Amino acid sequence: MRVLNLSTTAALYGVLSATLAGSQIVVPTIQGFQPTIDDWKAARAKADAFVGKLTLDEKLAMVRGNASAGFCSGTIAAIERLDFPGVCMEDGPNGVNYNDKVNVFPSGVTVAATWDTEFMYQRGLALGAEFRDKGINVMLGPVGGPLGRSPYDGRTWEGFSPDPYLTGLAMQATIQGVQENGVQTTAKHFIGNEQETQRSNTTLSNGTQVAAISSNIGDRALHELYLWPFANAVKAGTSAVMCSYNRLNETYACENSDALISILKTELGFEGYVVSDWGATHSAAPSANGGLDLEMPGYTGTTEVSTWFIPYLPQAIADGSVSIDRLDDMVGRIMTPYYLLNQDAGHLTPDESMIYMLLVATNGLPGAEQLSSLVGVPWQNIAARDVRGIHGAIIREIGAEATVLLKNEGSILPLGSYNEIGVFGSSAADFVDGLAYWDMGIDYGPQIGPIAVGGGSGSVRFTTVSAPLDAIKAQASTKGARVQYLTNNTAIAANDITFYPVPEICIVFISQFATEASDRDSLLASDNSTAVVENVASLCNNTIVVINAPGPLVLPWVENPNVKAILAAHFPGDQIGNSIVDVLWGNTEPSGRLPYTIPAKTSDPDIIPVVREPGPDGWQSTFTEGLFIDYRAYDANRSEPAYEFGFGLGYTTFNITGELAARTTAFNPTATPANSAIAPGGNPSLWDEIVSVKATILNVGKATGKAVPQLYLEFPESSPEGTPVRVLRGFAKLQLDPGKEGDVQFSLMRRDLSYWDIHEQQWVIPTGAFTVNVGFSSRDLRASTQVTVLK
Ligand SMILES: *[C@@H]1O[C@H](CO)[C@@H](O)[C@H](O)[C@H]1NC(C)=O
Ligand SMILES: *[C@@H]1O[C@H](CO)[C@@H](O)[C@H](O)[C@H]1NC(C)=O
Ligand SMILES: *[C@@H]1O[C@H](CO)[C@@H](O)[C@H](O)[C@H]1NC(C)=O
Ligand SMILES: *[C@@H]1O[C@H](CO)[C@@H](O)[C@H](O)[C@H]1NC(C)=O
Ligand SMILES: *[C@@H]1O[C@H](CO)[C@@H](O)[C@H](O)[C@H]1NC(C)=O
Ligand SMILES: *[C@@H]1O[C@H](CO)[C@@H](O)[C@H](O)[C@H]1NC(C)=O
Ligand SMILES: *[C@@H]1O[C@H](CO)[C@@H](O)[C@H](O)[C@H]1NC(C)=O
Ligand SMILES: *[C@@H]1O[C@H](CO)[C@@H](O)[C@H](O)[C@H]1NC(C)=O
Ligand SMILES: *[C@@H]1O[C@H](CO)[C@@H](O)[C@H](O)[C@H]1NC(C)=O
Repeated sequence: MRVLNLSTTAALYGVLSATLAGSQIVVPTIQGFQPTIDDWKAARAKADAFVGKLTLDEKLAMVRGNASAGFCSGTIAAIERLDFPGVCMEDGPNGVNYNDKVNVFPSGVTVAATWDTEFMYQRGLALGAEFRDKGINVMLGPVGGPLGRSPYDGRTWEGFSPDPYLTGLAMQATIQGVQENGVQTTAKHFIGNEQETQRSNTTLSNGTQVAAISSNIGDRALHELYLWPFANAVKAGTSAVMCSYNRLNETYACENSDALISILKTELGFEGYVVSDWGATHSAAPSANGGLDLEMPGYTGTTEVSTWFIPYLPQAIADGSVSIDRLDDMVGRIMTPYYLLNQDAGHLTPDESMIYMLLVATNGLPGAEQLSSLVGVPWQNIAARDVRGIHGAIIREIGAEATVLLKNEGSILPLGSYNEIGVFGSSAADFVDGLAYWDMGIDYGPQIGPIAVGGGSGSVRFTTVSAPLDAIKAQASTKGARVQYLTNNTAIAANDITFYPVPEICIVFISQFATEASDRDSLLASDNSTAVVENVASLCNNTIVVINAPGPLVLPWVENPNVKAILAAHFPGDQIGNSIVDVLWGNTEPSGRLPYTIPAKTSDPDIIPVVREPGPDGWQSTFTEGLFIDYRAYDANRSEPAYEFGFGLGYTTFNITGELAARTTAFNPTATPANSAIAPGGNPSLWDEIVSVKATILNVGKATGKAVPQLYLEFPESSPEGTPVRVLRGFAKLQLDPGKEGDVQFSLMRRDLSYWDIHEQQWVIPTGAFTVNVGFSSRDLRASTQVTVLK
């Protein structure tokens, strides 16, 4: 959505800014680079010409990585003969990982909580600029899977939301922002990578091979949930798609021709390349023939055979089980985005400091020094290229905008003038052990320090960090207030608190870390958080709880009357402290809304667990719930969450005035899309507007604030069994002064109004009346109307 009233930071990025005197109109558009089908064709022609110059060996070297030929997360080796400098791929979705002098950006879940495609785009634009300035060709992100079927999944924070519509727009805006910099995106992980436990195959101690988890997903749930955001990604022109570690319907995702060829490359019209997740390839010919174009990391230089594409792909070419045409297609696809984004015309070379950062990240400083001589690189202290620019401003702004205010008894927030402030919790303090990496396998994060990003490939090393305690002290000092603090959770949990006097307000920071390669084992915040909150609240009747977490947490103390305010601040990146101070003291209104449901209790039957043990048929995860994940499950079961999807308070309140105006804008719509030629994103008619809805929002409170009107669609009775009660199909964000109105125009496209018909293998608009609801959360529906597309 484009709000014609942008903040000063957005204006810094050259975004059009206009303040209208009266009513604002918010319309759905996403800024950024958007290649047309002709752009793709022109780029493919250049790629094919390049392929024409290659020898067979050169072609074979193009379709797998070579870690000895570079120092990026993934490297395609240079071909000097043709002045081709190779391709550098780097993690990850929240900033440039394994690098110095970069920013830690708000994680995917954080920017999703802004419910603002303009911020999603601005984040992508700034992220892409850092990758470009580091000389990286390909960013390994954004993440559309895990979607977040289970809140226990360890990587939900890298993605956006368990709602596919919200995630879809976030994918699209991010890709368009990143690629505008001439940096390729990799939409990942395709598909069904909804848990980390047994995500890859393992070997038992007795040598028995155990296959990776199989996500067994019905065709309808695949289309309406897990594939949906990838369709937006392809529509936005993503260069690459990464196939995932898991199996889909018992076939490894990187050799699943149904998923990669029939669905991704045919149905969605994807013209770029499929790259394997690192080590997710399990065969040569079946993978190449099944749709995989590029094996990563490929040759790692450490063992003779570390890749499937050496030596088995050359053998498969020689014996004809993989055709030369297919090999040419693989290289052609890999090179198409390179030309599409003009990377042949002066892309920077990779920052050489990266090799040292990678060694430090994986081995620690002394280990890195030792290893450097082993890999033949003399140890040096090369100063990194500083690519941070002025991105701190947008990071701070998104962190604040994304903060979800869950509770605000007696309007304790924004904070008035207090002289005695207490700050509690181990995640309020600055780090005590350096600006460390939290790499794979370390599933606890820092013991003391802000939890502003998770671990694994989606992590980013801090160059700078604004710790909440430091930011609060700085804010308090401007008012001459005192801050007493205790950042040892064991002491707080033991009620070993010696403050005098008792503070007028107490701010408690609780958190939970999460990382790639493991799932969360609890939905309670870590480090004795329940005792921490209860002890502070028993001391201090004005307790404010700030949560930094990867997704939903259960809040056992939510009804405690001394807990006056609760804020979900997610993983906001390196401006974490400044962002929360902006919200607490009211410089920024907390206009974040929950991009997921917060359960009432850990035993909630609507929470889908991850599979922790193999069954009689090995590791199987069968998605029997169909479309009923997150709010769709709560709505179907009429169960009460603690806080529903879409919920969030602000410093003012809104209502909807007048009737919703809903009308069919398409002329003579048919149930199924026109039989048009496929373009990136699938059948182009799926993206045609069919229905338009207008709502008028009124600020009925006393402060200026941002409303997040949300459109939830109820499908007609004629829809097949298994259709959710209602689904999100529109949202906008608009700022309004007290007493002022603004209009929002929602555009419902064909796909939004269709279900996936498993027999017809097609999107179908059902006959009968849709109910269109507009409100301020999935349970706060203020106005509704009906619209019939097909009688
Ligand atoms: C990998 O790259 C190095 C350095 O360019 C080269 O010497 C080596 O032959 C390559 N190995 C393979 C398997 O392609
Ligand atoms: C996983 O399977 C591949 C074969 O597809 C095998 O080479 C590899 O060693 C296995 N990994 C583990 C950890 O068992
Ligand atoms: C290896 O161990 C597993 C698990 O204990 C067992 O099911 C399997 O039969 C064993 N295989 C062999 C070859 O001993
Ligand atoms: C996976 O299996 C389900 C159930 O048989 C089927 O509906 C679906 O189409 C299959 N998906 C793929 C990609 O083959
Ligand atoms: C934290 O508090 C506990 C309990 O009071 C104490 O034993 C421990 O030494 C403290 N840790 C630090 C680092 O001060
Ligand atoms: C929780 O507090 C108890 C003491 O009250 C302590 O023994 C335990 O280590 C603490 N747990 C954590 C995770 O800090
Ligand atoms: C809150 O605590 C303060 C200081 O301890 C006390 O003066 C005040 O009466 C308390 N307010 C309530 C509502 O309990
Ligand atoms: C609803 O509740 C039942 C029983 O409590 C549970 O088994 C089921 O998974 C829940 N969710 C849905 C979508 O039915
Ligand atoms: C919102 O508007 C409706 C209809 O105009 C009215 O009935 C309702 O009381 C209003 N709600 C609030 C919270 O102002």
